[in-house]
Amino acid sequence: MNDDASQAVYFYSRHPISCEIILSKLNATRGHLAGLGPEELFAHDQDHYGGLDANDALAQSARIGKGTRVADFCAGLGGPARYLAHRFGADVTGIELTPARAAGAQALTRLVGLLDKVRIVQGNVMSVPIADACMDAVISQEALLHVPDKPRALGEAHRILKPGGRLAFTDWIVHRPLAPDDAALLWEGMAAQSIQTLAGYRELLETIGFRVLSIVDLTREWADTLRQRLEMYRRLRVESQQAGTPAGHDAFYRSYVRLVELVQQEVLGGARITAERSCSAGAA
Ligand SMILES: C[S@@+](CC[C@H](N)C(=O)[O-])C[C@H]1O[C@@H](n2cnc3c(N)ncnc32)[C@H](O)[C@@H]1O
Repeated sequence: MNDDASQAVYFYSRHPISCEIILSKLNATRGHLAGLGPEELFAHDQDHYGGLDANDALAQSARIGKGTRVADFCAGLGGPARYLAHRFGADVTGIELTPARAAGAQALTRLVGLLDKVRIVQGNVMSVPIADACMDAVISQEALLHVPDKPRALGEAHRILKPGGRLAFTDWIVHRPLAPDDAALLWEGMAAQSIQTLAGYRELLETIGFRVLSIVDLTREWADTLRQRLEMYRRLRVESQQAGTPAGHDAFYRSYVRLVELVQQEVLGGARITAERSCSAGAA
C-alpha cells in the first residue's frame, strides 16, 4: 500500500481524457462553444467503463431521482455528476483529488449551465469536506482502485450518508493474486493499488456498518468493454498529440494492454456493489 496521492495526481494530470481535448473536439465540430448543452459532453466526459448505461445502473441501485443529494467520490471531469443532474434532477457534489481535473470539471459544468445542481470540490475521499448524515446517496466509478485506505474512504461514505442512504459503486476486483510484475506495472501506469476481492469488499462494508444489498460481478462484460477502450485510447493519444493537449504517459498505454489481458484471463475484473447505511439507532 502506498499512502502517497502523488502517483494518482501524476497519472490524471497527464490523462488523455482532459477538459482541453473535450473543448478542442467540440470546437472543431461546432465551430464555437456558445450554447453548449450537457448532453453534448456525454460522448467525451465519462471516464469509466460502460458509458451512460453504467450511470443509469448506479442511479437505479442508489435510487437517484429528482432532488436526491448525491456525493460522487473521485468525480473526474464531472461527467457522471452532470449526467445525474441533467437526466434525473439530482443535486451532486463531486470530490476530486487531481487539481487539473477538479478545475476542468468546474469549467465544463459552468459552460453547460449546471452550476446550480453540480459542484466539484478538489479534495481527497479519505477526508471528505461534507457534513455528517446529509447525503441520500454516494456513488463512485472505477476510482477506489487508486485509494490506498479503502476502509477510510468507505467510512467517509458511511459518515455522510443519511440513515437508509445508499452507496453504489463500481471498482476493479482481483479474482486471483496479481504477479508482482503486474502489480508494479498497474501502479506505474495507472496508480492502481490495494485492489480488493469480492469477499473482501463485502467484509469491509459490513465491518463499517453497511448492509450489503447486492454485488454484481461485471468481469465478463468488462473484458469486451476494456478491449474497446484500449482502441479508443490509442486513437485519443494521436488526437491529443495533434491537438497539443495531455496525451498520457507511456506506462499508461503499456499497463492498459496488460489490464485487458488480465481481465480477459479473469485475474482482474470488476463489480457493481450496492449497500445501505442502516436505519437502526444502534448502527455504526
Ligand atoms: C477513472 S477516473 C473516474 C472519474 C469519474 N468517476 C468518471 O466516471 O468519469 C478516477 C478519478 O479518481 C480521482 N482520484 C484518485 N484518487 C482519489 C482520491 N483519493 N480522492 C479523490 N479523487 C481521487 C482521479 O484524480 C481521477 O479523476
